[in-house]
Amino acid sequence: MSGELRSSQWYEAGGVRSFSHRARTRQLGYLPEEHLGKPVVAILNTWSDINPCHSHLRDRAQAVKRGVWQAGGFPLEFPVATLSETFQKPTPMLYRNLLSMETEELLRSYPVDGAVLLGGCDKTTPALLMGATSADLPAIYVPAGPMLPGHWRGEVLGSGTDMWKYWDEHRAGLLGDCELGELENGLARSPGTCMTMGTAATLTAAAEALGVTMPGASSIPAVDSGHERMAAASGLRIVELIRADRRLSSVLTADAFEDAVTTVLGLGGSTNAVIHLIAMAGRAGVSLTLDDFDRLARVVPLLANVRPSGGPYLMEDFHFAGGLPGFLSRITDLLHLDRPTVAHDSLREQLAGALVHNDDVIRPRTRPVASEGGVAVLRGNLCPDGAVIKHIAAEPRLLKHTGPAVVFDDYRTLQRTINDPDLGITEDHVLVLRGSGPKGGPGMPEYGMLPIPEHLLKRGVRDMVRISDARMSGTSYGACVLHVAPESHVGGPLALVRTGDPITLDVPARTLTLDVDAEELERRRREWTPPPERYGRGYGALYSEHITQADAGCDFGFLARQGEVPEPYAG
Ligand code: FES
Ligand code: MG
Repeated sequence: MSGELRSSQWYEAGGVRSFSHRARTRQLGYLPEEHLGKPVVAILNTWSDINPCHSHLRDRAQAVKRGVWQAGGFPLEFPVATLSETFQKPTPMLYRNLLSMETEELLRSYPVDGAVLLGGCDKTTPALLMGATSADLPAIYVPAGPMLPGHWRGEVLGSGTDMWKYWDEHRAGLLGDCELGELENGLARSPGTCMTMGTAATLTAAAEALGVTMPGASSIPAVDSGHERMAAASGLRIVELIRADRRLSSVLTADAFEDAVTTVLGLGGSTNAVIHLIAMAGRAGVSLTLDDFDRLARVVPLLANVRPSGGPYLMEDFHFAGGLPGFLSRITDLLHLDRPTVAHDSLREQLAGALVHNDDVIRPRTRPVASEGGVAVLRGNLCPDGAVIKHIAAEPRLLKHTGPAVVFDDYRTLQRTINDPDLGITEDHVLVLRGSGPKGGPGMPEYGMLPIPEHLLKRGVRDMVRISDARMSGTSYGACVLHVAPESHVGGPLALVRTGDPITLDVPARTLTLDVDAEELERRRREWTPPPERYGRGYGALYSEHITQADAGCDFGFLARQGEVPEPYAG
């Protein structure tokens, strides 16, 4: 079979290049019998000293290697860019496509037969999978797994969600510096990704639902020894996948993406998944649109009672309640069970025997957290190409609301002025932030949960209607309309809103309307001048030239399109 291995082009084709590749592998310390004729498995590792969500992934790469060796493969670890949601500015979303390119091109340009991808912190999951999909080799995803639950003074804390909550308490004067210091120690207690149903947990669950992880992998706590065993099992399995030539394209079908959307909705997952799944599907040649999310959201019940959409549980509770296999076992009638996964010939086979062990964490269909899935897609003259709202995480009174706009042109202006009492903001106002989309942000930063003005916080106001072309952290909440497309930076109607304009949000009708007549808007459009380009050179300039809008997944046009890429000549 070695003749059929892609890597044999490098090692065994004959000629001086193969001789050189073998000599250089001796230089690495390997005997010929350790690697010749064996499937080469690239382990793409997003570990970094700066990324607390991935700080255990060096160890996990060792476990993957163990599995690969045992199965008769040859593992090689490749460090790739880390995208740390916490530290990377303006937002790791600016670099999702860069990591996807790095992933694709490493897999293409080196002697690789298949890949194990180690990631988990928000954008790393779509980035690694988008790149691997475009490279179309056999691949398995190893999700980093959630960190341990947070603790503070007898309370269980959820990452992100409780950070926002207690920061607001601090701003409202209810929490002092000393308490904040204790919270700093208690919020994030171990390696691993955010342990609420934030973007990381949502996207890794989506990866499992797509069928590109080992069964049950996505919710195993990062520091559980089961996580190490899952990594080893992924190493064993990838060698079998290479031998069977089961490529990602055979797993990532339209049915798989529909099931991933169903999963995200039933979990009450992050709105970020809308953008990422559309982009991921695009790489697989599958057309997935906002309308698919809206259609499925009306039939998929919310069953995961996990913060921030449900509650009070966290990912560890979800895991021990049965994890994703348990959850999926409750919605089998909504899934495509005959499609293959990396671990089984069919999802049906994969879910055989899956059970839920705690009906309050993963609710039965007769007692859902909410009868509809987590995301509503809005249309209207303010968002001709759509916008989304996670309505289940908003105060119900705001889901049908008309109020005057207060417009902020960018996030800095907002930060500087939002607490100014002279703006006269009341709880009925609609806060509008623009200049925060894919190009304008740039990178659609997670500014979408606009802060409530302090004087309103002190009066007990905790939610308002907020509208932006930004994204929102998966751990955020509130009546926040996000991903308004087209964004203001490219002249979307958001650019034309003025303070005082009435805006109507009607979630039951799925509309977002700027109540200003078309003639007046046309007049404003003629007066509008596009903002200057942000980047004169470099990656930012490349990004700005090629980024697509939120409804198209924010991929680069040249990466999203289908087309031939030649294999490199290794001889
Ligand atoms: Fe990495 Fe939340 S910051 S997963
Ligand atoms: Mg996040």
